[in-house]
This record gives sequence, structure tokens and C-alpha cells, in this order.
Amino acid sequence: MERYIMKGGIPLVGEVEISGAKNAALGILAASIMTDETVTIDNLPDVSDINVLLQAIEGIGAHVNRIDRHTVKINGSGIRTLSLDYEYIKKIRASYYLLGALLGKYKKAEVPLPGGCNIGTRPIDQHLKGFRALGADVRIEYGFISTEATHLHGTHLYFDVVSVGATINVMMAAAMAEGTTILENAAKEPHIVDLANFLNSMGANIKGAGTDVIRIRGVSKLHSTEYTVIPDQIEAGTFMFAAAATQGDVTVKNVIPKHLEALSSKLMEIGCQVEESDDAVRVYCKNKLHNTHIKTLPYPGFPTDMQPQISVTLALASGTSIVTESIFENRFRYVDELSRMGAKIKVEGNTAIITGVDKLSGAIVSSPDLRAGAALVIAGLAAEGITIVEDIVYIQRGYERFEEKLQNLGAEIEKVSTEKELYKFQLRETAV
Ligand code: UD1
Repeated sequence: MERYIMKGGIPLVGEVEISGAKNAALGILAASIMTDETVTIDNLPDVSDINVLLQAIEGIGAHVNRIDRHTVKINGSGIRTLSLDYEYIKKIRASYYLLGALLGKYKKAEVPLPGGCNIGTRPIDQHLKGFRALGADVRIEYGFISTEATHLHGTHLYFDVVSVGATINVMMAAAMAEGTTILENAAKEPHIVDLANFLNSMGANIKGAGTDVIRIRGVSKLHSTEYTVIPDQIEAGTFMFAAAATQGDVTVKNVIPKHLEALSSKLMEIGCQVEESDDAVRVYCKNKLHNTHIKTLPYPGFPTDMQPQISVTLALASGTSIVTESIFENRFRYVDELSRMGAKIKVEGNTAIITGVDKLSGAIVSSPDLRAGAALVIAGLAAEGITIVEDIVYIQRGYERFEEKLQNLGAEIEKVSTEKELYKFQLRETAV
């Protein structure tokens, strides 16, 4: 079992190169099977969620050719089953994007019903509402969602809640429906725009992605393309807040600063300096940070995927901060772990009341989920003494070479898999 061990208290300083966006890549990989021609996708992050989805795509018969760590060629002409195995959905929820992709292309698909997950119950009613509006018959039986249509037709759909996943799934199916679909109250996240751009580069006709009304004129066929995934705004944000929490000076490179505005403005509000250039953002924080209030919201609001990272930063800021989680109900599970490091946080319903402390102290903590795991690493890097973060498989789902990138910024962090390696790190660090 791999763990991270780190000695905290060292400001992170330097430059870090941000990888491709995991959440954009998941949609794009699923959509890549919608043509029988070969599609080349570049700037894929080398993280476990992507690797599992590629296995799922191979599992239904598509040809997957991994050119290198960040590039893949996919050919969907050999797809032999329209039914996905449970093992994939169990490992990665987003494999349900194959539902929209297969339904669009073959007018039929079957995917195991994804359950809840560590951050909440996660219903999929809006996805199903969209498929039905496009003319598909949707049934839930024997633990599967089965959807089938003689033909899909354009529709005018109003989503009841803003959902990234439902917007992606319905957009893919509608891209190959007959006629025009209008999606209202659509999600506006950068990866929705990236997926729409990808589909358009394959011959789809999608307009308005990035606004809350998306217009899709269906086409009967999609073709090959070569496409580069956008940078990961959440990975970038994680390093920006790691810089803030450790009072460091970090330039995140290969980013789209516009996608980071909600984060940059909060960092400035709590006392950091933020400098933007064309494709980089520098964050440096020399003085003690101070409190703020946050409510997570769909893009362009403050992202729920950055809530644990800013909460760790606020745990070390002066004054009392209030963080309201409005997207997922179970996203404060890291608070108990953080409290063991000396943070003062009280959770009431979907709100965390954070009273800043002068310092955190190292402890053995466990990652409850992907982003909370990264936040606990930030806490460990800011804390006095040694911290061990367990269950890093969650972190590896979404952060490429996380410990290496942190080491390059001066962090004393190692990934260890044996007690001996752990002991060696402790011995070395306590001897210094
Ligand atoms: C995506 C992201 C995830 C991020 C989340 C919110 C991917 C692969 N994952 O997840 O990292 O935290 O957006 O930015 O891109 N909802 C319904 N019915 C539905 C669908 C969603 O009620 O049919 C609710 C959810 O319970 C949640 C809210 O809508 O409260 C937003 O969820 P959604 O945007 O769908 O999140 P995901 O696509 O699952």
C-alpha cells in the first residue's frame, strides 16, 4: 500500500507544469468511439482514472493504441458490445459517459448504474431525462441502465439542476440525433467547452458551449480528428493553494488563467499576490493570510473540487472563515483528519466554520477522496513535523506524478510502499 510521507514547514518555491484536464479527457475519450475513424488525443494526464477508462473502452472492443504517456489513438470501428462491465463503473464513475456516446452512435447502450461515492449520493436523473427527451427508451433493471431508440430526435430540454455529467452525456447523444437539440440550464465548465470543441473537430455541430444554452444540430456521421486536451484547472488550483498554505512562491505553467479566476480572486482576497501572464499564474504569499467566506457553485463560481484545498489554507489563516458546500453533501469528511493535525473546524450541515490556527502539526491521516487527499498533502506540507497520508490511491486517480511535482518545488515528500522506506525517511528527517 503506497503512502506519502512528508516533512512540512518548507515554503514551496519554483515552477510547475500542469497536466491535461482529467475531467475533460474523460468526456473526450468516451466521445472518441463515436466515429469508426481513428482519433488521436494528446495532453492526456497520466492518472489512474484515465487509464481505467481506456481499459473500459478497450473492453467494449475499440482499439486503443497508447503512443506515449500523454497520447493515445482510438479506433471505435471494432466495437462488439454495447454493454459495459460493472468492474469499470465501480472503479470510475465517469465510464457512464459511454452511455451517451454509444447511444448517439448505435442508438443503444447498457451501463451498470453507478452508485453513490465518497462525496455524496450523486443521482443521474438528469442524464436519463435527457436521453428520454431525445426519444430513447430508458429502463433500469438488474442494476443496469439500458437505453435504446429506433431513432434519436432533437429536443428542447431544460435541466432541473446544473449538472456537468448530464450536460456531457446528453450533448454526446444529441450530437448524432436527427434535428436540433437545445439544452437549457446547461453546465458551463471549461471541460464542457473542450468536449464540444472536440466533437466539432469530428464534424459535430455544437454551438453555445460555455453558456447555459447549448444548441446542437445532429449529424449522421463523425470523422477522425487530432485533439489536444485543455490544462487541468483543478490541478493548477491545488498548486496555487499549496503555495498559499506554505507561504511560498509558485508559478503554475501551461494553464488558461481565465479558468482560474474564481481561485485567483479568492487568493488575492485572503492576502496573496497573484500575477497572470498568457499561460501561467504566479502565486506568492509573504504575510499571514486572513479569513474569507466561500460557497461552492457551478462554474464560473468557486469549484467544489477546490473546497478541501481552500479549507486547509483557511485553517491556517487568521480569523473565522465560513465555507458552504452547495454541490455535494458529503464533502467534509477530511475535516476529522485535519482536526487531528490541530485545525479548528466545526461542520454544521453543509457549512464548515473554520477558526484559523497559527500552526498545524504532523500526523498520520487518511485520504477520504481525491481532492480531500490532495488537501491533506497540502496540510502536511504546511504543518510542523512529519505527516503520513494514507490511501493515496484516491490522489493518484487525478494527480499525475504529484510527489515529483512537489519535490521540484522544494517539498520534502516521498511516495513509500514499505515500512522500511517509511522508517528511512523518518530517520533521515529527524536526524537533520
Ligand atoms: C463533475 C466532476 C466532479 C465535480 C462535479 C461538480 C467529472 C468527471 N466530474 O461531476 O469532479 O465535482 O462535476 O463540479 O467531470 N445532480 C442531480 N441529478 C443528476 C446529476 C447531478 O441531482 O442527474 C446533482 C448532483 O447530486 C450534484 C449536482 O447536481 O449535487 C452537480 O453534479 P454534477 O455536475 O452532475 O457532477 P458530476 O458530473 O458527477
